[in-house]
Order: sequence, then C-alpha cells, then structure tokens
Amino acid sequence: TAAAAGSSSDGENARAAAELARRIAAEVARRRNFAIISHPDAGKTTMTEKLLLYGGAIHEAGEVKARANARSATSDFMALEKQRGISISSTAMTWQYQGSCLNLLDTPGHQDFSEDTYRTLAAADNAVLLVDGAKGIEPQTRKLFAVARLRGLPVFTFVNKMDRPALNGFEIIEQLEKEFGLQSYPVTWPIGSGDRFCGVYHRPSNKVLLYAKAGRGKAAASAQYELGDPALAGIIEADLREQLMEEVELLQILGDEPSAEEIASGAVTPMYFGSAFNNFGVDLFLQSFISLAVPPRPAKAKGNPAVLAALEPSEESSSSSNGSSSGSKAAGSTSIEGTVSPESTHFSGLVFKLQANMDPKHRDKVAFVRVVSGKFDKGMKVKVARTGRVVSLSRPQQMFAQSRATVQEGFAGDVIGLTNPGAFAIGDTIYAGPELSFPPIPSFSPELFAYLRCAPNQKKAFAKGVEGLLGEGAVQVLYSTDEYITDPILAAVGQLQFEVVQYRMKDECVFVLLFRCVFVLLFRCVFVLLFRCVFVLLFRCVFVLLFRNEFAFNQVIAEQGEKLGELSAFALPPDS
Ligand code: G4P
Repeated sequence: TAAAAGSSSDGENARAAAELARRIAAEVARRRNFAIISHPDAGKTTMTEKLLLYGGAIHEAGEVKARANARSATSDFMALEKQRGISISSTAMTWQYQGSCLNLLDTPGHQDFSEDTYRTLAAADNAVLLVDGAKGIEPQTRKLFAVARLRGLPVFTFVNKMDRPALNGFEIIEQLEKEFGLQSYPVTWPIGSGDRFCGVYHRPSNKVLLYAKAGRGKAAASAQYELGDPALAGIIEADLREQLMEEVELLQILGDEPSAEEIASGAVTPMYFGSAFNNFGVDLFLQSFISLAVPPRPAKAKGNPAVLAALEPSEESSSSSNGSSSGSKAAGSTSIEGTVSPESTHFSGLVFKLQANMDPKHRDKVAFVRVVSGKFDKGMKVKVARTGRVVSLSRPQQMFAQSRATVQEGFAGDVIGLTNPGAFAIGDTIYAGPELSFPPIPSFSPELFAYLRCAPNQKKAFAKGVEGLLGEGAVQVLYSTDEYITDPILAAVGQLQFEVVQYRMKDECVFVLLFRCVFVLLFRCVFVLLFRCVFVLLFRCVFVLLFRNEFAFNQVIAEQGEKLGELSAFALPPDS
C-alpha cells in the first residue's frame, strides 16, 4: 500500500510539473516585451497612450500624461520629477492585446536621459523606433539605436506625425540604411502628408485605409478600399493616386517580405506610418507587431554544469563540441557558460534598475527585476547570486505609470518591483532552485563629468551618500590620479544624472546630517554629565582619603569644643 501511495504521489508531482511547464511555455509565447526609442517630441508619450488605449489599460487619452503630472497623488518619489514634469524612472507597463501580453519598458528621452535608459533597453526584447516624419532620425535616436543594435534587438519603425508636412517615405528608408545599415520593409505606406494626408496603403492586405481625424479620443474607424478600387478616384486626388501606384511598384522592386529570422536579428525593420495623435495607423502597427516581435529569448548565464545542462542540454553539448567558451566546461571549473531558456521551470531574474524614494514617507528603494526564466510567485524565496543571501519576495509590485499593484505571478519578460532595502544591487541575479548568474550589465561610456564637493566638516556623511548613489548606479564615480584632488568626479551619460545626485545628496543627506547632529549632541550631553559625576565622586573620595585624619581630628576638636562649651556653660561661675 505504501509503495502504491508513493507511486501515485510521484505521478501527481509529475503531472503538476508537466502542467507548470505547459503553462510557462504558453505564457512566454504570448509575451512581447519592448521599449520605444525616440527623440523627445517625436510623440512617444502620445504613442504609448494610444497603445494602452487599444489594450484597455487606460480609458481615455491623456491619462498617462495626467498620471505623470499627478505623481504626487500616486508616488511622487522625487520632487525633482514634479519640478521638471519629467519621468526620471523608467517604469514598465503591462497590458493585454488580442491574447498577447505586452510589456512596455519606458525609456525617458533626451534631457531626462541617463544610464537607466540604457539599462532599461538592455532588459527589452524588442525596440520600437519612433521617428518624427518631418525630422527623420535625430540625435537621441542614434544613441538609443546603438544600444538596441548592441543587444541585437529586432527593431520596428513607426513614422509619426504624418498629418504634418513630412519627409518622403523613401528619404526615411535611406536615412535608416545610411545611418544604421538597417534594411526597411514598409508594412504600411503613406498617401501624402500634412494637409494632403489621405491615409496608408496596407501591403499585407493590399488595401488603402483612409485617414480620419480622431483627436484625443479612441481609435478612428477608417474606411478601407482595395488598392485598385475605382471608388478611390473620387476620394484621393489624381496626382496622389498616381504617386501611390508608382511607389507601390517601387516598394515591390525594393524587396520581398523579410523572413522572421531577418526581423528577429534586427537586420530588417518592419516600417509603419501614421499619426499617433490622431490615432491613425497605430492599430495596424500593433497587430503586425504582436505577430512579428520576438517573445522573451534565452539568456546567457553561468552556472553549475549539471544545472545548465539540465536547462539547455542541446546548446551546451553543441558549444562544448565546437570547443567555444560558451557551454564549454573550463578545466577544473565547477561552472559552465550556457543559456537559460525562458521556458525553464526554474525561476531566475535580473535586477536591472534600482530606484530610491519611490515612496518618500518610507524612503524605500525599489529593485526592478526582469523575469528571465520560470514562474515568479508572490512570497517565493530566492537566492541573490552575488551574496548568497536568501530573500523572501513578499511584496512584489507592478508599476503602471507611477501607480503600483501587487503582483501574484510573473513569467519571462515581465518586470517586477521588489522592495527590499540593501538586498539587491544593479546586475544582481536572483534565482530559485539551480544556481546560476547572468553576466553583468555593461556600463556605458560617460559623456559628462563634474566634480562633487562638500563642506569639510561633512565629509563622512558625504562619502556615505556618494557610496549609496554609486551602489544604486545613479552615477559613475571616478577619482583623480592627482593625489591633491580628493573630490570625487561624477561621470554620467546624461545631465539629469547630476541633478538627481545633487537633489538626493541635499534631500537625503540633510536627514543623515540632522540625525548625526542630534546624536552627537545627545551623546556629548550624556558624556559630559557622566564625566562630571565620576570626576566629582573620585575627587571627593581622594580628598576624603587624603585628609581623613584631619577630618577625624577636626571632628574630635569640634566634639570637644561642643563638650567644652557645655562644660563651661555649667562649670564656670556666672561672674567669671
Ligand atoms: P515625447 O513623449 O516623445 O516627448 O512626445 P509627446 O508625445 O509628448 O508629443 C510631443 C508633441 O507632439 C505633443 O504636442 C503631441 O501632441 C504632438 N504629437 C504627437 N503625435 C502627433 C501626431 O501624430 N501628429 C501631430 N500633429 N502631433 C503629434 P504638444 O503641443 O507638445 O503637447 P500637447 O499640448 O499636444 O499635449
């Protein structure tokens, strides 16, 4: 009976494991994780809003901006954000669309630009390049694209603001090719621009979708016609129709539909045209995006050979057979390099960002973790690879704009905020089960430098503050080789990083200083009082010891004197 019970529980466990594996695989397959890269004012916020509207994550346009402006009601973790009306933190937004789960990692633009922007991009699986139709490729786009390229991300290009006078589509294709060596495959093609913007030609369906202004509301329902439909003659002006037919022919000459591999490797960018503000072309983009974008991919990791072999046996064996370092066991080493499948049943995650003061009342720090493999469960216990510390993830949160919600579960590609002071650092690997660690997040070449100085009597608090900011990755700290220059040199990729450091040093170090002052004052008072008491006591003891004979003598004299006084009072006759 015991054997039968044992085998039935084994069977149940196997069934539960198979069910978990099936669920993880299904969840990973429907996840699309992406970041929008653009120059400020290209329309990223507007585009984000429209994307969220389609998923029902927000109910009216303007909500993202409104939330950003009303941050005090939700998070207001930094007054600096409110002062400048910017989003310093790169937050993640999750919503559902046609059965897919979309994770948008927000990357702040230009003046808000910082190393965090790069790191966030490092946690994305796909990049959406948002281009202002009139301006084409702009400086900030170049920087961000370089990071996307470094990571081999698939890139999707959306040319925005077609309702304003814009460059010709071929000019933008040429810019992409010249600047980034990126081949384009237009999925939609614009018909005119500015006042003459009539709509887009949708290549997969061979249909023309007519432009209708939607303003800030929901999607505009646009009329659709076959490309050769004679009815178009009465709708689109003759010269524009002629131009469209020529351009469609040219597009066919330019290239066939790219393969999924060409898109996934980032060699070819699917291209879309529209107007985010007028909610035109966004739905076409989104439908195409969910079918072409890649789900979370396997991640490079280092770990116990048995563990990685179990997670990714084919890669390990193939790599070790060709003798490369990846997947091969170093002589005498206890770990190998390989890849972790997002569909593995073992949970692992990467801390890619730390944000302090999300809630100023608690002065907390939130660690943003990207789930890399397995299933995340609220309350689960994980190990931090760097320290070996076991941490219970009891309060996982998901951010939406700046508001938070408790997360119950998560899968590869999801971003989860963890509040756990001191437990995490940027680049930390956390895992449950088999031991593994991900390679460190690369640090990016700083472009701006500044000295950070403080008053001489505050050096200790200052050093502590600098150390804390360094640990959080808020800024890089360098020291001069000149021994006479002891002030740290701050190195950053964006001006904002300096402002954040200054603000945080002032805001947080004031508390440290105040605390120190009060502590020192109290300590001194107690010390002085104690010292005085002990000193007086000792002094008295010594004094008494030294002069005890004299005391006794004086005492005797005093007593004798009193007695004599009494005697004299009784013995002597009154007249003497
Ligand atoms: P960003 O986050 O990339 O900085 O850009 P954002 O969405 O804030 O857009 C910058 C400006 O461009 C906004 O105008 C926005 O309305 C406008 N815009 C965005 N998409 C389109 C579009 O498709 N067509 C046109 N014509 N304009 C667009 P603003 O005047 O700065 O702000 P607001 O008063 O409109 O909010």
